[in-house]
Amino acid sequence: MKVLTLVGSLRKESFNRRLAETMQERYQDKFEMEIADIGALPHFDQDEELDPPAVVKEFKQKVLDADAIIIVTPEYNWSVPGVLKNALDWTSRGERVMVGKPVFPLGASMGMAGTLRAQIHLRQILVAPGVSAKVLPPGGNEVLVNFAQQKFEGESGSLTDGSTLEFLDQKVDAFIEFVKEG
Ligand code: FNR
Repeated sequence: MKVLTLVGSLRKESFNRRLAETMQERYQDKFEMEIADIGALPHFDQDEELDPPAVVKEFKQKVLDADAIIIVTPEYNWSVPGVLKNALDWTSRGERVMVGKPVFPLGASMGMAGTLRAQIHLRQILVAPGVSAKVLPPGGNEVLVNFAQQKFEGESGSLTDGSTLEFLDQKVDAFIEFVKEG
């Protein structure tokens, strides 16, 4: 199974990037994960949507080639960061590469809500007509890593909190089943 992961933070020591990297290593026997460089995408411009810059074409092709998408994002001002919305906007115009793609949204924050509000917004974006992704249903499948500063190893290490990892293992298996259902 080929997975493309979008990380909503560009910060070098981002908890969300570290969560994505933890998953890349921990689940390497379950799927092959590439982390997309969404920070390299220019701002969406409708004048260019039918013939976008090469870097956008490459990104859209990676989305098309993936069996599934994982989105690991922080919450910025109760929503998703602009860099992630920008990437999703590119996928939604011209060739609509997210249509029917299985998506697993998750996120980490330092506060108590663990990106809950961002994930609610993200789910709305993912079902907009241009995106039309097939999102892992909520109701127990939300991975909200709160108090992240207590759950990762040092300043730049991976997710090490045992119960969070155990929960993540279960949700990753649920997502794999969801992808296989087609
Ligand atoms: C934040 N942060 C934040 N946290 C939260 O729980 N709710 C929010 O609405 C916001 N808003 C917000 C806006 C902006 C512009 C920044 C930079 C930060 C805090 C945020 O969760 C924290 O910085 C995380 O560590 C960001 O994720 P990464 O970069 O560690 O992955």
